[in-house]
Amino acid sequence: MAPHRHGEKVDAVEEAMVVEERRPISSVLIIIAMQTEAVPVVNKLELKEDNHSVFTSGVPWVRYHGTYKELQINLVWPGKDPTLGVDSVGTVSASLVTYAAIQALKPDLIINAGTAGGFKAKGSSIGDVYLVSHVAFHDRRIPIPVFDLYGVGLREALSTPNLLKQLNLKLGNLSTGDSLDMSPQDESSIIANDATVKDMEGAAVAYVADLLKVPVVFVKAVTDVIDGDKPTTEEFLQNLAAVTAALDQAVAQVVDFISGKSLAEL
Ligand code: ADE
Repeated sequence: MAPHRHGEKVDAVEEAMVVEERRPISSVLIIIAMQTEAVPVVNKLELKEDNHSVFTSGVPWVRYHGTYKELQINLVWPGKDPTLGVDSVGTVSASLVTYAAIQALKPDLIINAGTAGGFKAKGSSIGDVYLVSHVAFHDRRIPIPVFDLYGVGLREALSTPNLLKQLNLKLGNLSTGDSLDMSPQDESSIIANDATVKDMEGAAVAYVADLLKVPVVFVKAVTDVIDGDKPTTEEFLQNLAAVTAALDQAVAQVVDFISGKSLAEL
């Protein structure tokens, strides 16, 4: 085809994207990795557990759903590991549930909410709640040109300047890896990612959301200060319950703000 025909096609795609951005958001998918984090949000938004799973039989993934402030809300939690009975945290479960939930539920927007470690050197304290600007991995080291960038997997969250201003949340970069602790190599990558918060799912959710072209925002509440004096595990477990209260309040405020708005208005 002649070049101008191609240009027309690009124009049509861009126009469709603009229309999409201006349409009121109707369906929101919330992805949360831990039961302790998910239950307060389920209660606050008065969601009900699914009786007939939309997922393939045998998987432990749990969906809660309901209508809240005229938004269709689905909250998906990857459930308990079938063998060990603990929450299925980490990037493998997160990417699987994100993929399956997008396919089944076709959301307009994803919110990945959860707890995170924070760096006091970047101004972070226990109980702070962050919106995320960029997200990347810190434990996928492939020192071969271009594979190195693939490993880091840097992605941008949906820009939400109005939401940030209205809710008075903090903004920072998120770095994701499959360990709660931090090896010296992880630390170098986290510094290279210019991260303020560290979690175990965000970059995996972002990868799938990007593949399937669904915008994503991250709401992360700090349970432990990684560059502080206390051991991470102790501090995480000690603060988990209190910090999830801050998290569920922030998620509800984010959902309240989204209600009646388009992606472009966030
Ligand atoms: N979630 C809460 N604290 C964390 C940490 N320090 N690292 C990764 N994920 C976390």
